[in-house]
Amino acid sequence: MAGTEFFGSEEKKEINDVLETGVLFRFNHDAQRNNIWKAREFEAEVAKLVGAKYAHAVTSGSTAVLCALAAAGIGAGDEVIVPPFTYIASVEAVIFAGALPVFAEIDETLCLSAEGIRKAITPKTKAILLVHMCGQMAQMDEIMALVKEHNLILVEDAGQAMAASYKGVSTGLFGVTGCYSFDFFKIATAGEGGVMVTNSETAYKLADCFSDHGHDHIGNNRGMENHPVLGFNYRISELHAAVGLAQTRRVPMIRTLNNQHKKTMMTELGKIPGVSFATIPDPNGDSATFLNILLPNTATAMRAVEEFNKNGVAGFNYWFTNMYHFINQWNHIKEGKVAAKTNVQLLGAPQDYINMELPKTQETIGRLISFGIKASWTEAELNELLAKMSNSIQAALVQTA
Ligand SMILES: Cc1ncc(COP(=O)(O)O)c(C=O)c1O
Repeated sequence: MAGTEFFGSEEKKEINDVLETGVLFRFNHDAQRNNIWKAREFEAEVAKLVGAKYAHAVTSGSTAVLCALAAAGIGAGDEVIVPPFTYIASVEAVIFAGALPVFAEIDETLCLSAEGIRKAITPKTKAILLVHMCGQMAQMDEIMALVKEHNLILVEDAGQAMAASYKGVSTGLFGVTGCYSFDFFKIATAGEGGVMVTNSETAYKLADCFSDHGHDHIGNNRGMENHPVLGFNYRISELHAAVGLAQTRRVPMIRTLNNQHKKTMMTELGKIPGVSFATIPDPNGDSATFLNILLPNTATAMRAVEEFNKNGVAGFNYWFTNMYHFINQWNHIKEGKVAAKTNVQLLGAPQDYINMELPKTQETIGRLISFGIKASWTEAELNELLAKMSNSIQAALVQTA
């Protein structure tokens, strides 16, 4: 699943390069840094991996979403369609951008569906924040057609889906801007970090300024730089970038191993009547960080979770009851509990957050259990896990038949 499985000498070497110079700051200090520019190298490596013209590294996946929104021109009072199943950072970023989240339905891809988005569009809709969940991707043809039809801005949060693609285009590059997380749990980690990607020079330059107090980064005298736009500090440190660089180089290898394991798991578990899997619109583009199992109904999924726990099966997420990934548990957002007023309080929620009806989402997430795939599994480990998973699922199916 995560790059952390392979943390080793390559990461240490990149960190040591930085420690040798002592320049932990990503900009300037040209004389002292002995031509060591880890943030720049990290960005170039991510751009190469995903085929982006521009990549810009920041402190986290969460701040990368914020930069992606700002660079796409989304701000105060704009209505942005978001999914009710995502890591909560996506929704937080919309709110802290000053915008207003509007929740829409997902489908079996685990991402927003074109149908769900269409139903949520109002005359005030400015953008869609499409989140590619659980290592997979959304139905991009249908969503892109809708984006064009309604002249919307698309921003992609591929926090969990770097190195996934659809028909050869990487997640993050369908919209004006996109982004990835490099936190501790992702396919590649920087400890903490995030990267915003785009093919637009204008969006890239805006993100570059926005994430560093508006600095234009022209010349080598920071004190004399211009500030084309207002910004804040989301700068990544050279140490985090160094780790992210070494980890990004490992991603093709991790993706290949993940896909092999996922295929084996789908073949084996797919033999059990009643077991299906989340839809992968382009199976060749799966980053395969998760195996996403769909059981016939919520009761069976809950029973399977109990069986997994009873039989010592670890490494899965039941998102339906998870506190951070599913709207049912986001009471603070629904009830408007904030440290300080946001535009949702000032302008009013664009939807009745407490009485929202999202039946397709409820049904899909209720049935979903996601297993984190470890690239480092041996064949024996995988077989043992599969036997336990299979017994637990079959027991749950019998008990809830
Ligand atoms: C879809 C998604 N977006 C954003 C984030 C936030 O990333 P970070 O933890 O690096 O801030 C995450 C983290 O899990 C995520 O899954």
